[in-house]
Amino acid sequence: MTASETRPLTAIRSFPPDFLWGTATAAYQIEGAAREHGRTPSIWDTFSHTPGKVFAGHTGDVAVDHYHRFREDVRLMSELGLGAYRFSVSWSRVQPTGRGPAVQQGLDFYRRLVDELLAAGIEPALTLYHWDLPQELEDLGGWPERSTAERFGDYAALVADALGDRVKRWTTLNEPWCSAFLGYGSGVHAPGRTDTVAALRAAHHLNLGHGLGVQALRAALPADSQLAVSLNLHEVRPLTPSPEDLDAARRIDAVGNRIWLGPMLEGAYPEDLLADTAHLTDWSFVRDGDTLTSHQPLDLLAVNYYTPTVVSHVARGGEKPQDDGHGNSEHSPWPGAEDVGFHRAPGERTAMGWPVDPSALYDLLTRTAARYPGLPLVISENGAAYEDEVRPDGTVHDPQRAAYVHAHLDAVHRAIAAGVDVRGYFLWSLLDNFEWSYGYAKRFGAVHVDYDTLERTPKSSAHWYARVARTGELHAPGS
Ligand code: FCB
Repeated sequence: MTASETRPLTAIRSFPPDFLWGTATAAYQIEGAAREHGRTPSIWDTFSHTPGKVFAGHTGDVAVDHYHRFREDVRLMSELGLGAYRFSVSWSRVQPTGRGPAVQQGLDFYRRLVDELLAAGIEPALTLYHWDLPQELEDLGGWPERSTAERFGDYAALVADALGDRVKRWTTLNEPWCSAFLGYGSGVHAPGRTDTVAALRAAHHLNLGHGLGVQALRAALPADSQLAVSLNLHEVRPLTPSPEDLDAARRIDAVGNRIWLGPMLEGAYPEDLLADTAHLTDWSFVRDGDTLTSHQPLDLLAVNYYTPTVVSHVARGGEKPQDDGHGNSEHSPWPGAEDVGFHRAPGERTAMGWPVDPSALYDLLTRTAARYPGLPLVISENGAAYEDEVRPDGTVHDPQRAAYVHAHLDAVHRAIAAGVDVRGYFLWSLLDNFEWSYGYAKRFGAVHVDYDTLERTPKSSAHWYARVARTGELHAPGS
């Protein structure tokens, strides 16, 4: 343990003056207006309308109606004094068939949103793809097909042309690991396919799409634009220091992290990943030059972090640990890691069942910075679900969420003190929203949403976070 790790949590920590303080959302989780102004279904519309896929049959048809209430939502951010807002664009709202010309009404929604943000002094950070592939592209094969990567490049150009004059911060993909391995591997996310090889093909075409997207953005955007990708990097910990458990951790690091970091930041797939998955595919879908296309200079690496990943070796045919965090899918989202078991650390957990461990965020930031020196980092998501209750007086008191965010911001501060260049923090999420296969059952918002009236009420954690954001000083909740 270093001296800094023993600092009392009650001490006030000052962040750099230009540190960005924001919240994050994603289009399908908040917008609603699923059939308005020419928007067509994305894979998440189809999936959520398929019985048995999402908790209690919930869908994003209305979500929290942000499409109609965005002015109120920007006003909320402004009242809280937040300096930045990360949102995503719904591809099928701006280019309904996933090809061809844009729908102006769709683009106008994002123009109005961005103008409203800028007028309130809030910096927009735009994510092009947060999992909602136009259904028409899935019908043509989806991410396992190369053409989807090419379409993504075209879509990036179209959005950059429309919004490049007012948005400076761009992210290509959000958590491509989830798109590939939960979408096409375990099937717990849209489009719900369970085909391991398709999942690996999807991963490659997401990498390629990212590269084509960055190329398109660079061609269309002003030179000072900031380009990033958001990865849910897994902080992988072996259950024991045995060579078998260390190898389990290496495999998960390969198919969870280095499958993206390799092509995007180093221009090649890791050799061990290719070896681990050789019994599944010869990777002949990777064409000459593809990984060079994926390898585009980035201005920032955006990291989403919630909980660490603890793994062990499990003998073939042996019993896997229960409660491994993969829901009820029988299909693994980890190709090449058939002999790996997943564990959840004892101790405190969020309402998702995710163990709370800010030290893993510190380790993740310091390790990533050591591997990619010179590449600034930003936390594009971090936060927690808890079972919030509205009190009789209408307020929501959520000290657990504030404590979670406080502990994680403390870890970020420690990483900065250790020399890591972290530029900002986006709390997931601004609002309670549609939490994918959990529907509306899990609340991550700093702002509570009543799903009957759609009324917004900032929780006590929002007021605490707002003070941190306004002052740039981290203080313990309640102090
Ligand atoms: C991330 C997603 C985000 C949200 C949080 C809780 O994996 O990017 O949309 O669902 O988890």
